[in-house]
Parts: sequence; C-alpha cells; structure tokens
Amino acid sequence: MAGYLDRIGAGLVLKNVEPLSFDYIPLELVGRDDKILDLASIFSTIISPETSCNALITGPVGSGKTALAKVFAKDIKDNYSRKRKISYLHINCRNHSTTTQVLHRIITSLEPRYPVRGLSSSEILSSIRTILRNSNKHLLVILDEVNYILRKEGNDILYNLLRIDEDKDGQGTISLILISQEEILNSLEGAVISRLGAGNHLRFSSYGRDGLFEIAKQRAELSLFEDSYSDQILNLIADSASTMGDARNVLHLIEGAAKNAEKEGRKNIIPEDVQSISSKEVKAVEPHTIDSLRPHTQLLLLAICRRLKKESEMTSGDAEQLYQVVCEEYNQSPKGHTTLWKYLKDLELKDLLTSKYGAVPQGRGRTQILSMPNILPSDLIKRLESSLNRQYGI
Ligand SMILES: Nc1ncnc2c1ncn2[C@@H]1O[C@H](COP(=O)(O)OP(=O)(O)OP(=O)(O)O)[C@@H](O)[C@H]1O
Ligand SMILES: [Mg+2]
Repeated sequence: MAGYLDRIGAGLVLKNVEPLSFDYIPLELVGRDDKILDLASIFSTIISPETSCNALITGPVGSGKTALAKVFAKDIKDNYSRKRKISYLHINCRNHSTTTQVLHRIITSLEPRYPVRGLSSSEILSSIRTILRNSNKHLLVILDEVNYILRKEGNDILYNLLRIDEDKDGQGTISLILISQEEILNSLEGAVISRLGAGNHLRFSSYGRDGLFEIAKQRAELSLFEDSYSDQILNLIADSASTMGDARNVLHLIEGAAKNAEKEGRKNIIPEDVQSISSKEVKAVEPHTIDSLRPHTQLLLLAICRRLKKESEMTSGDAEQLYQVVCEEYNQSPKGHTTLWKYLKDLELKDLLTSKYGAVPQGRGRTQILSMPNILPSDLIKRLESSLNRQYGI
C-alpha cells in the first residue's frame, strides 16, 4: 500500500469524528441550563391535553439555538410519552422558504404518502389538524431560521399555524418554537405577537470563553483519545473561538488540530496544531505591523513567541524573564516592569496577543496569562528576528 495512506484513519488522536460534525447533538448541552429552564417554564403546561405552547428564540450565529431547541424537544417527547403523545419536527426555513414547502413538510412527516397535489394551503392545514386529532397526537414544530420565510412571504404561515384550532372543536394541536438570528419580533404583526406571546421570547448571547471551554471539553471527550490533549489545548481552542463566540469554531478547531497532529504521526495535540488552523482564520500579520513596533516591544514579543511556540500560554512574569534573556542576546539593557506592562497592552491592542487574569501555575494568587490563539508564533519569530537583526546590525 502507498505509504501515505497510512495516515488515513490512523486513529492516533481521533477516536470518533462524528461528535465533531455541526449537526451532532449531544445528549446534554453544557452551560445553557438557564435557557433550557426558561424554555421549560414557557412550556410548563405542554403535558396537559388541549394546550399548545409557543416560544421565540433569537441570538447570534453558533450560540446554541438549534441545539437547545432539539435537545428540549427530544427531552419532552421522551419524558412525557406516558402523559401525552408528543412528536416534534425540525424544519429549516432556509431550505423550506415558502408556506407550501413548510406545510408539505409537516403533512408528509405525519403521512408520507399524503396526496397534497392540488390542495390549497388552508386545505393542507385542515388535513394536518385532522390527522393529528384523529391520532391523538400533539406536534411541536421547530421553525428554524424563520426569518427566511418571513422575508419572502411575510407572517401568513405563522398566523395560520398559530390559529390552527381557532373556531374549531378542541385545542392543542400544534406548538411552535421559532428560531432566528435576527431580532424578528419587531417585524411580526400584532396578531401574530399576541398569539405567540411577547413574553415567550428567549434572547441568547454569544458564548464567552468559559462556555466555549466547556463545549470544547465535552466534544474532546467524545471524539479524542484521552491522552491526546490537555486542558491547556482546550483553553487555547476556547480563546481562539472566543473572538467570534461561535461554538462551531470549537468543533472546527478540535478536528483540525487532531488532523494536524495525526498528519505528523503524533499521538498528542500540541499548541501549534491549533494555532496553525486559527491563524488561517484571521488575517495574517502584515510585515509593517511588526516593523512599526518599538524595538523593545519587538524584543518582548520575540521572547513571548519563543515560549508560545512550545506552550499554549504563559504568565506575564515568564514573559518578563525571557525578555531579559532576549535583551542579553541583542546586547540591550532591559526596560523596567511598568514600561513592559505598557508594551503588553500595546501588543494586545494590535491583536498580536490575548491576555486574561488567571491563577499562577503551581502558586498562589492571580496573574496575567498570555496566549496567542490566532497567530502562529513561529511565523512571527522569523519576522521579528530579521527586523531586530537589521536594527541592531547583527
Ligand atoms: N451549550 C452547548 N453544549 C454543547 N454543544 C453546543 C452547545 N451550544 C452549541 N453547541 C454545538 O455547537 C454547534 C452550533 O450550535 P447551534 O447549531 O445550536 O447554533 P445556532 O445558534 O443554531 O447557530 P445558527 O444561528 O448559525 O444556526 C452545534 O454543533 C451544537 O451542537
Ligand atoms: Mg441554528
């Protein structure tokens, strides 16, 4: 066999790639307990017959809207099966962006061969109602990315689904969860808002680095071999993804880093495996950014890069010590602590460095922890060395 094929499926780091797919829904979500509780209280009457509940979820890209709605729908279906026959259906309105497509999708999920041809929307709607009531079922429909249908066709589909039982015998046929990245509440008609319930609106915000760390930890446990990564690597992934707050970046970084390690025949992920992917996602550092730094800021950055090439993070104290070593190398007398602190802030402002406050490793108290999640330190080292060599005539 061709030697290079050994790398495929080598299984050095990746145990199972499936949990890293964007569609994979873990059994439990991490760090969204408050939102799932809010949704549960909106749906608190769902197990009573003849009731429907409706909710609207909005929030930025990758903030867990779809995942949370799916986990919630599955949980209520599984946990309340004895009390009420609830099924759920997830429809992405990006792919089903007309009323007809949405109604077809609903009716064929209930009866795959239902003869929908030639039927008007209101006829399909009334058939959906008849099927559900005859089978004594309640359907929870998740209309995801609902802004696509609103933009194309307006409020009609929502209005019709929300009033499916009005003026008829018996209630509680369909519940709705609407999801959108955009704030759509203002674009909904009063008649829709009053049926939906203006208070049934959950606003998600982007994940912060702690939330992303939890997600990274959960997915790494599911997809990677135990000894192939450390918390340090997960921290680096969380830092890198936190510039956008999008949980998908976490999955992308874990998979990419694992593949980088395997490509080199290693059984463990090193910081550079993560940095080389995240650095592709931000704009490369322009040479003039480096050249425009003060000489001592360059010396400090060089010291930091040399350490971060091997480690995912370091303390500001380490940076100061290593800076002194680099100063010796270039025959320069080092600047004092306060000046260096200003230089660190300058590097952060220029997006060359990320810092956070954290516990001192093996020590007491807290210190500034530095990392470089979106840049490849080895790239900068070459540029810094040539700039410094030029300036100091080495
Ligand atoms: N709290 C969480 N715990 C575990 N995994 C999560 C969590 N939040 C999001 N994820 C995962 O991150 C990915 C993105 O989440 P999701 O698809 O729910 O985002 P979204 O808010 O619907 O984004 P979009 O607006 O782009 O559709 C999914 O693979 C999802 O399983
Ligand atoms: Mg989504």
